[in-house]
Amino acid sequence: MCGIIGYVGNRPALPILVEGLRRLEYRGYDSAGVALIDQENLCVTKSAGRLSALEQVLDHSMPQTTGIGHTRWATHGPPTDVNAHPHTDTSGKIAVIHNGIIENDRALRTYLQRQGVTFKSETDTEVLAQLIAMFYEGDLEKAVRKALREVSGTYGIGVLCADEPNVIVAARKGSPLIIGVGKGEHLLASDAAAILAHTTQVIYVGDGEIAHITPDELRLTTLDAIPVAKDVQQIEWSLEQIELAGYDHFMLKEIFEQPEVLENCLRGRLDQNENAIRLGGLVDCTKKLTGAKRIILTGCGTAWHAALVGEYLFEELVRIPTEVEYASEFRYRNPVIDEGTALIAVSQSGETADTHAALIEAKQRGALTLGAVNVVGSTIARETDAGVYLHVGPEIGVASTKAFTGQVAVLAMIACFLGRRKHLSPCAAAEFIAALAAIPKQIKRILDTAEEARKVAQIYTDRENWLYLGRGYNYPVALEGALKLKEISYIHAEGLPAAEMKHGPIALIQEGMPVVVIATAGRQYDKIINNMMQVRSRGGSIIAIATEGDREIAKQADHVLYVPDTIEPLQPLLTVIPLQLIAYHAAVIRGCNVDKPRNLAKSVTVE
Ligand code: AGP
Ligand code: GLU
Repeated sequence: MCGIIGYVGNRPALPILVEGLRRLEYRGYDSAGVALIDQENLCVTKSAGRLSALEQVLDHSMPQTTGIGHTRWATHGPPTDVNAHPHTDTSGKIAVIHNGIIENDRALRTYLQRQGVTFKSETDTEVLAQLIAMFYEGDLEKAVRKALREVSGTYGIGVLCADEPNVIVAARKGSPLIIGVGKGEHLLASDAAAILAHTTQVIYVGDGEIAHITPDELRLTTLDAIPVAKDVQQIEWSLEQIELAGYDHFMLKEIFEQPEVLENCLRGRLDQNENAIRLGGLVDCTKKLTGAKRIILTGCGTAWHAALVGEYLFEELVRIPTEVEYASEFRYRNPVIDEGTALIAVSQSGETADTHAALIEAKQRGALTLGAVNVVGSTIARETDAGVYLHVGPEIGVASTKAFTGQVAVLAMIACFLGRRKHLSPCAAAEFIAALAAIPKQIKRILDTAEEARKVAQIYTDRENWLYLGRGYNYPVALEGALKLKEISYIHAEGLPAAEMKHGPIALIQEGMPVVVIATAGRQYDKIINNMMQVRSRGGSIIAIATEGDREIAKQADHVLYVPDTIEPLQPLLTVIPLQLIAYHAAVIRGCNVDKPRNLAKSVTVE
């Protein structure tokens, strides 16, 4: 959710921490701070607001070579200077940065207060700092270990102690944490983007592990002090991928990257000679997966929308009963799962807390678990039995765009892969694969007409209520279009299966209300045209997404945005593009912060 950065080495830490925090800005946060340490002095600077506010109060000449930095997304106490991290204990010796939530913080706070501790902030994190200080007897790692035994909840932490100037102790449970390995230096981060400028060699800290980090040494142990051996891994992402490259916003860059990144996603996986899909990540579980009696797709937000498209794909191509579950609901129900169930967790970040918990729940009940995940080495990717990476590169904009098309493309490939092993004929597979192979170029064609979407956005951005309608494969796209608009332009929008409109929401329609209707060629075309007429006769303004060559539709719509023709199951990959563009331009025209919309964070690692 929020960001962690740390540095121990020979260079001044402060510029590295500030740059790291800047790279983490996209994740969304409300305050920031750093702690630096040299011979027995701990110096903490923090500030509510954006990183620039912190930069104004920092003394940039500080030479210390050990430090930690944090961007906070408040859960306990408002975003104020005092509640910003790092948090220190009463003596000012221990400093802690923390991502996550300490669930038993009230009990611990009361206990510590009875011991005479006075708290400065309202955060659960300060409890941790005070607790570590209480256990400190000259060995920071030991004190952290003891403190963590007392806490429940989730955490990724970095801890400094004034008595141990060249040491960071880090630990995680449920919040991502990686250690970058350099020459005579180590970096700590919650996200690879923060350290990519310095190293691509990383070690992933596992749940329940503690790291003792010095410039030259790195020691990992479990909470019970059992040593853990870990290989250094190589991050594949490059620095250019996490920069704007001339675009005004990451969201726009990521929309326009879709032709290229989908090529990457499909590369080596479509075999048009053999009419087959090759998915290396599924080789070891193919038998079990094809034998599954039931498939559950789970995720949150945009990933959940992609999963809905997946449900249609799986039922049509694989003919295994498939359900889609909100991860947050699934984890707390008592779901019926057995060994005949396969669960696919869909996630860009691979760190979403609800999706991760749903996965663990299914795993414990014996399901085969798979991931359709973008971030290589992320928690969900590591904890699933098998999976298929999206390979769409880092997604920085909070509003998910290329990850959605990547998720749909991956689910389409899994569906075809399994379908061929069930009832899908070589002929049907050949048609599907050829259509999939054509998608990147078709997206490019839509992007060449992006100006049309901007014009539509321009006309309607003053309207506060929009509807998005779709049927069949395009129903999840209607939901996704509405989510995009609300997230970044703060316009209220609702997505619906078009036929549901007459069961209630039609009451909302009045003169000039924008209604986006996805009306591409297909089995339900006539029905959706009827839905359009129902809207029009009540004064709604129709923005239709239609198939190139459909001249008739202009008679029923106020505006038409065209997409190339493809088979119905793959239409979401094309119809979503104009909706992404409309949302983007609406937000820009309304003067919103497109990449960092209010109240949102890129990856939701708390419940
Ligand atoms: C999408 O625009 C959202 N910001 C959000 O709904 C997101 O898709 C959701 O939080 C899931 O994230 P994940 O794919 O990283 O698991
Ligand atoms: N729970 C902590 C707080 O409210 C950390 C929140 C975060 O993950 O940034 O300060």
